[in-house]
Amino acid sequence: MSATDLLYSDPLAAATRAAAELAKRSGIPHHDIALVMGSGWVGAADALGTPTFECDAHELPGFSAPAVEGHSGKVRSYLISENGKNIRALVFLGRTHLYEGKGVEPVVHGVRTAVQAGCKVVILTNACGGINRDYSVGQPVLIRDHISLTAVSPLSGATFVDLTDLYSKRIRSIMKSADSTLAEGVYVHWRGPTYETPAEIAMMRTMGADLVGMSTVPEAIAAHALGAEVLGISLVTNAAAGITGEKLNHEEVIAAGKAAASRMGTLLKQTIPQLI
Ligand code: HPA
Repeated sequence: MSATDLLYSDPLAAATRAAAELAKRSGIPHHDIALVMGSGWVGAADALGTPTFECDAHELPGFSAPAVEGHSGKVRSYLISENGKNIRALVFLGRTHLYEGKGVEPVVHGVRTAVQAGCKVVILTNACGGINRDYSVGQPVLIRDHISLTAVSPLSGATFVDLTDLYSKRIRSIMKSADSTLAEGVYVHWRGPTYETPAEIAMMRTMGADLVGMSTVPEAIAAHALGAEVLGISLVTNAAAGITGEKLNHEEVIAAGKAAASRMGTLLKQTIPQLI
């Protein structure tokens, strides 16, 4: 069966196949932690050091070429050594989004592949709009919880998965010990590709939301359902629609992401050894 057919008919088998191919190509049989780098987060990956392996994601079964500017579509492996610990980090530069219209399976294929490759922790990063007026552009915010306005789940069938501690309290507290300025917020998943209207942002604020973006939530659910611990970090790249009166554009999102990413990379490198 082709990798794409398998992705839709048996997504976990497709992820197992991709993990096996990754192990074969890289010569690294097992990874410990996965990081998904969203728009503008490539600089954060660079701060992790020199990769020991890199390939185009679409060379692995079930992955497709990137559709978004600011997403390079590479998969990298890093060896992070500290205090006698050797941690293998699997890094995805870019992701597939629901707004690409391919369904939810390609959206979560990366994190499922990472878990099948051995990852026990999944760090999901993204660029987002700030709904909370206390946030400023360029500020990283830990995701404390989410609201799914797409209502799209990567799971089907009678598997009733608890999401009470979806964004691991343990990992959030390690991150806040490393950087006490980190705020926490509630992330709304919006399908896109349209940004929100000002009225929709007002509704989200009333619902208790702080951040809005077009990713992360399906991946968090898929990783958690497979037993991985999840950290979500949003980088506020713009004030959400209607807050400043300015129009939203993707170039602004990429530029703000780039400016803050290397600081976030340094923080991630410092904290990763404590997460495993
Ligand atoms: N809305 C939705 N997604 C986003 C935004 C936004 O304002 N900024 C970056 N990604």
